[in-house]
Amino acid sequence: MLEKNPVIFIILAFVVIMIGTTITMIAPFKWINSDSDKIAEVKPYTPLQQEGRDLYMREGCNNCHSQTVRTLAADVERYGNGGGFSKSGEFVYDRPHLWGSRRMGPDLARIGLKPLTPAWHKKHLENPQSVVPASNMPSYAFLNKPLDTTYSERKMKLLNFPYTKADLDDLKGKSEMDAMIAYMRKLGTDISVKKAEAATQTPVASTNPFTDLKAVEEEAKTIYKQACASCHGEKREGTLGSALKGSAKSDAELYKIISKGIEANGMPPFGNSLGEQKIWKLVTYIKLDTK
Ligand code: HEC
Ligand code: HEC
Repeated sequence: MLEKNPVIFIILAFVVIMIGTTITMIAPFKWINSDSDKIAEVKPYTPLQQEGRDLYMREGCNNCHSQTVRTLAADVERYGNGGGFSKSGEFVYDRPHLWGSRRMGPDLARIGLKPLTPAWHKKHLENPQSVVPASNMPSYAFLNKPLDTTYSERKMKLLNFPYTKADLDDLKGKSEMDAMIAYMRKLGTDISVKKAEAATQTPVASTNPFTDLKAVEEEAKTIYKQACASCHGEKREGTLGSALKGSAKSDAELYKIISKGIEANGMPPFGNSLGEQKIWKLVTYIKLDTK
């Protein structure tokens, strides 16, 4: 019967579709983005960080990098960097959000929590393969050019973010590279961090069990190449990190530095990932001043 009256049929079909739309797309606004989702520590971007964010979009970094740590244990372990999974309240100042859907590279939602110095970021962006040899990330050395700040203030006003004159003055003489690095170092840092416990582990043995380098040389070199060479140089000569060849530090001191790291200066902790035996082998290798 009904199908013989197209006008009524269209109206009824429209009503049915709108009921579905209301339930799935409009009604949820009643219970998402409520006050309980707000996270007080989350701060808006500074003008420099916002410029970095705009460059991130201009360069399409989001085509290879997502910015959301899912609730899965593996995701939290790999990309959480101590900040756990992403919460909705963290994205209130992201316009638009950059969650992304592809992970050719690692998730960057909490990259700011990784102990990576500005020098590391610069080297990596200029030539990713110089720090991660197998990386397929392209070079962004061309970001070493002056930042265009014509619209910086207007952007802040439009987004309704607080800023001071000092923030704007801070943009003077900055390069696009500086802005990108400032953005990278902000990501994820608003959330309070649970430090991994194992990073504070002390060695079981207090003396180095591997005094004879010959016995562990091959293995130590392989570990060094994989974990240390990107920052300390192929020949331990020092690049981003200090020169290590023939270190005058005691075995115990070296052990402590390698296992706990010096995070503030960009030396990551390896206590968790390498374990005691491998760290002692590295200590033996580092102290050697030949080759
Ligand atoms: C073709 C895909 C691709 C593009 C485009 C890309 N990256 Fe990457 N990125 C990767 C891969 C793969 C890695 C992992 C290897 C490495 O560290 O280089 C990576 C690693 C990184 C890391 C280090 C992550 C970590 O946890 O150590 C940062 C930071 C980064 N990229 C930032 C950027 C920025 C900023 C841009 C845009 C200017 C960008 N990437 C564009 C693929 C890409
Ligand atoms: C991401 C870069 C990076 C990686 C990877 C890295 N380091 Fe470092 N390392 C640094 C930086 C930067 C310093 C300087 C810290 C400072 O001056 O306070 C440093 C300092 C050190 C020191 C102290 C040197 C001294 O004489 O003061 C030792 C020892 C050391 N690293 C060993 C290692 C070993 C062994 C590995 C591999 C398991 C490694 N590092 C991997 C960046 C790195």
